[in-house]
Amino acid sequence: MLNTPATTRAAVIHQYAAGVSHISLEERPVTPPGRGEVLIRIAAAPINPSDLAFLAGNYGVRKPLPCVPGFEGGGVVIAVGEGVDPALIGRTAACFAADSDGTWMEVMRTRAAFCFPANAGIDPETAATLLVNPLTALALLDRAVDSQGATPAIAQTAAASALGQMIARLALERGIAAVHIVRRESQVETLRALGAEHVLNSEAETFDHDFRDLSRKLGVRVCFDAVAGDLGARLLRLMPAGSRLIIYGGLGGESVSAAVGDLIFRNKAVEGFWLSSWLRDTAAAARAWSAVQAAAGTTFVTEVRARTALARIGEALADYAQQMSGGKVLIVP
Ligand SMILES: NC(=O)c1ccc[n+]([C@@H]2O[C@H](COP(=O)([O-])OP(=O)(O)OC[C@H]3O[C@@H](n4cnc5c(N)ncnc54)[C@H](OP(=O)(O)O)[C@@H]3O)[C@@H](O)[C@H]2O)c1
Repeated sequence: MLNTPATTRAAVIHQYAAGVSHISLEERPVTPPGRGEVLIRIAAAPINPSDLAFLAGNYGVRKPLPCVPGFEGGGVVIAVGEGVDPALIGRTAACFAADSDGTWMEVMRTRAAFCFPANAGIDPETAATLLVNPLTALALLDRAVDSQGATPAIAQTAAASALGQMIARLALERGIAAVHIVRRESQVETLRALGAEHVLNSEAETFDHDFRDLSRKLGVRVCFDAVAGDLGARLLRLMPAGSRLIIYGGLGGESVSAAVGDLIFRNKAVEGFWLSSWLRDTAAAARAWSAVQAAAGTTFVTEVRARTALARIGEALADYAQQMSGGKVLIVP
């Protein structure tokens, strides 16, 4: 066991509400790891869109209150419970929070199964953003494979997001034709700088016409959609017959309407993807973790635009909520 403190500072919420005024900094006792658990000294934890939804009470899980938010982080294992390999102690790891407290704290207890030891050369801060988005990018591309085992051309929304950029790099590396949809001209440049060929701005007057043409020309059959709402509905309408809209985020709306004729006569489909469900396939997760580590500094790199101390968590959240593009905001306890 490495230096285990008696208490830890943590960002805590006592209620679910929109905004950031309900988050406070508190000192909490550190509970020793139980059977199958580890203690991790968190070095960095990102703020992701899922965290904002969780704080507002709009996410797929609600934890008993009060609780510490934060779904992923990176750090060093400082203690392990019964049944866990003691060789983990001292290892840098990426981690998910378990059902209890999350990563926005100095020392977090989680399930050993949610602790992914990193190869030498991956530092704790890099590890902090190597789970949620990289695993989702790989899993989404797996979901795009058709019944013949081929990956058709794809489209994606919110393409300038950290995750969207990973999908763009994977598509380029694998030779998959892709249409990247963003909502600002500066984001068109972000995608072009990665080498992406087909980038469309959904705010452009000609977008519907351009997307319809391009998706037919390239043979787009799958769209990964993090926006949903009106944009998701438009894309479903514009995509060719037989297309699938795979919704994995609700940045622009909580529902998507589909024309009955598209679903019945044109064989289009709307599906959902949630990493938490996908992670139940532990073998797939282990394979993906190896792939992520091998390309941690390239395909799965995440730009960081700010590092903020835990004590300034409110400012960090407000900053991120106001500007999501251009890099992640990391909490550094
Ligand atoms: N289902 C899952 O298991 C799963 C797993 C991982 C991630 N996700 C989802 O993946 C998405 C991207 O996550 P991330 O961490 O990569 O995000 P990020 O890097 O923090 O960036 C968010 C991006 O979304 C854009 N955006 C925000 N609101 C939008 C709207 N209404 N319409 C269009 N674009 C909008 C932002 O652009 P602006 O600067 O223009 O606002 C920004 O480029 C999120 O929806 C997240 O919840 C889902």
